[in-house]
Amino acid sequence: MITHRSYAVEPWTVRETELSLDVLAQSESVFALSNGHVGWRGNLDEGEPHGLPGSYLNGVYEIHPLPYAEAGYGYPESGQTVIDVTNGKILRLLVDDEPFDLRYGRLVSHERTLDMRRGVMERTCEWVSPAGTTVRVRSTRLVSLAQRSIAAVAYEVEAVGSQARVVIQSELVANEQLPESKGDPRAAMALQAPLEPEEDFASGSRLRLVHRTRHSGLRVAVAADHVVTGPQRTTTGSESHPDLARLTVASVLEPGEKLRVEKTVAHGWSGARSLPAMSDQVDAALAAAAHGGWDGLVGQQREYLDDFWARADVEVDGDEEIQQAVRFALFHVLQAGARAEERAIPAKGLTGSGYDGHAFWDTEMFVLPVLTYTSPDAVAEALRWRQNTLPAARERAAQLGLRGAAFPWRTIEGEEGSAYWPAGTAAFHVNADIAHAVVRYVAATGDEDFERDTGMELLVETARLWRSLGHHDHRGTFHIDGVTGPDEYSAIADDNTYTNLMARANLLAAADVVERHPKEAERLGADDEESAAWRDAAEAMNIPYNGELGVHEQHAGFTRYQRWDFAGTRADQYPLLLHFPYFDLYRKQVIKQADLVLAMYTCGAEFDEEHIARNFAYYEPLTVRDSSLSACVQAVIAAQAGHLRLAYDYAAEAALMDLEDLEHNTRDGLHIASLAGTWMALVTGFGGMRRSGETLEFAPRLPEKFSRLAFSLQFRGRRLRVEITQQSATYTLLAGPSLRIRHHGERVTVNPDSPVSHPVPPPLHRPAPEQPPHRKPNAR
Ligand code: BGC
Repeated sequence: MITHRSYAVEPWTVRETELSLDVLAQSESVFALSNGHVGWRGNLDEGEPHGLPGSYLNGVYEIHPLPYAEAGYGYPESGQTVIDVTNGKILRLLVDDEPFDLRYGRLVSHERTLDMRRGVMERTCEWVSPAGTTVRVRSTRLVSLAQRSIAAVAYEVEAVGSQARVVIQSELVANEQLPESKGDPRAAMALQAPLEPEEDFASGSRLRLVHRTRHSGLRVAVAADHVVTGPQRTTTGSESHPDLARLTVASVLEPGEKLRVEKTVAHGWSGARSLPAMSDQVDAALAAAAHGGWDGLVGQQREYLDDFWARADVEVDGDEEIQQAVRFALFHVLQAGARAEERAIPAKGLTGSGYDGHAFWDTEMFVLPVLTYTSPDAVAEALRWRQNTLPAARERAAQLGLRGAAFPWRTIEGEEGSAYWPAGTAAFHVNADIAHAVVRYVAATGDEDFERDTGMELLVETARLWRSLGHHDHRGTFHIDGVTGPDEYSAIADDNTYTNLMARANLLAAADVVERHPKEAERLGADDEESAAWRDAAEAMNIPYNGELGVHEQHAGFTRYQRWDFAGTRADQYPLLLHFPYFDLYRKQVIKQADLVLAMYTCGAEFDEEHIARNFAYYEPLTVRDSSLSACVQAVIAAQAGHLRLAYDYAAEAALMDLEDLEHNTRDGLHIASLAGTWMALVTGFGGMRRSGETLEFAPRLPEKFSRLAFSLQFRGRRLRVEITQQSATYTLLAGPSLRIRHHGERVTVNPDSPVSHPVPPPLHRPAPEQPPHRKPNAR
């Protein structure tokens, strides 16, 4: 765990001013660069020392058998796991016969900076070799947001004080050795040597390796080209082997002289394309990148990010750490989704191999909300990926005896990758989450083509699932039994409120869309009768409520369970899943992560303010936040219920999850949902932003510490800027025609060129609820 503040607090950068080898793996995640297609962990240029080497290509995975002690019908037979592909980052350095390895010699200084405006990671260090030669090394690395297959490094070494003989070996390395994973179920299984060599090539400054995964049959091609600048006496040579291609650059540097290698790396993969086609593809990508050279890549990156920040930046006055953290969060959310293009957005993005590189509902319920209002095109792409996986989801539904599509709980390629039913396929809510994301995207963009070509099919197939999964009882009430909601400490429960409310919205949205597009509905075989059945189910949906306590039940019967023995649970026994059997968690009132509380956020119109406060007070003392998906949601509802102080603490927890390694597993990759949750906590928590149909509503109230919060949103062809202080909120239309919104319930029209301000009402005063012992968020 990072126990001290590891990074300087600055608004646009994350800067590490000294190297701590004991937290190297965490910092590799924090400094990871990605564009959603290629991901490079922040490994040191020289390759070693490392925590976890990682180079990923979104969608490249290997299959492994899923062993069961007792097999059963419908259990997935194989799992998918992300693999470490050919590493193009490596530039090894030899100084006067000694390897530049920071574990030896003397490190005078070492600084790494993630620059979120320029989209680069910079490193400078000064090192004295064991034999006493001093060199300064500077490197700049980027994964291009503009050119999807490209990553690049500029590596420069300078002799300081005396002459130095230096050799730089720029490499492509396949099948790197990976450290063993240590039995944490959230880490990845490390597959050793998953790539079979197909081609290796080196000529002049050009290198290329092509491999194929053994079982999943995916071809991976990585090529590199170089521009070398140095003194005249510099020589170069290249060679290749099945798992290694290398350019060697040797020189003698007089004091003050520099040797610089600009390395551009192109990546490609395919399950269908031939070996020559893949080789050509990466060569062509290099040619495109060479066009503008290194400066061109750096310039494009800046342009791309200028555009992003103009749409997406969140400004916070009054808490510098949160300011930095929310930009860090937005930067990584963008990196995870920017160029994923019809591929999944995994729970860790491409920053590490945690959760085997799988995507979960995290995408639709945490990541896509941010992207919907900041980079909507990426949302359409992510949902098209779901559409592309419909054949697998339909097959899964059929296997389970259900209609429509049953999307996987966790996956890379679309097949169910969970071997554990209760916290896997039984979490059917993922289907309604996908539908919710479709509705949100269409409402926020008005993208009718998408609705017709992609959204509709997703809505219809998920509605069919709900209709066949649930049933009307003798009174006509509709139930969905035996499912797992978001809280994974309850499983296979009846009528999970979140699931039922989300399914209800799913059924109604499907019925609406079928009526709007009758021709396409016919193509999908959906008729009036079917949509009437969806409406019947939706209207008769059971929403469990305990009248005596005056609270909604997380699922039918939940409030009757015995309470978990919180007083008898020690601080070091969290997360509970690593210390107690699931059967005991399942039968007690103890909550891993916001569930009913999440329902109050995503289906807010179903709850009045009184119930929001009462439910929150009931569920808070039961919620242990053993998932990083919880704090941000609790922040939002705490803010709505008037507990601004508590909301602030939760928002900070979500925001600092990775910068402070709060869950002790940042080494495996960043918690992308929690990062996205930072935006959620600020914009929908303190900004009180909700969408009701095609209207944006705001109910802003800032915590005491904030003097100002400002953010921009893309909405139906507009760009709206919202600026909130303790006293008032100002709405400004930066682009697009007039927009009608609501401010604390009041109708407001925002016209171009005329910002409108409205007062922020005084805070609500309610006693803040308690959390379980040891589970209070850190007070800020
Ligand atoms: C949470 C899930 C989440 C998964 C991946 C689990 O710990 O309980 O809700 O989808 O992590 O982030």
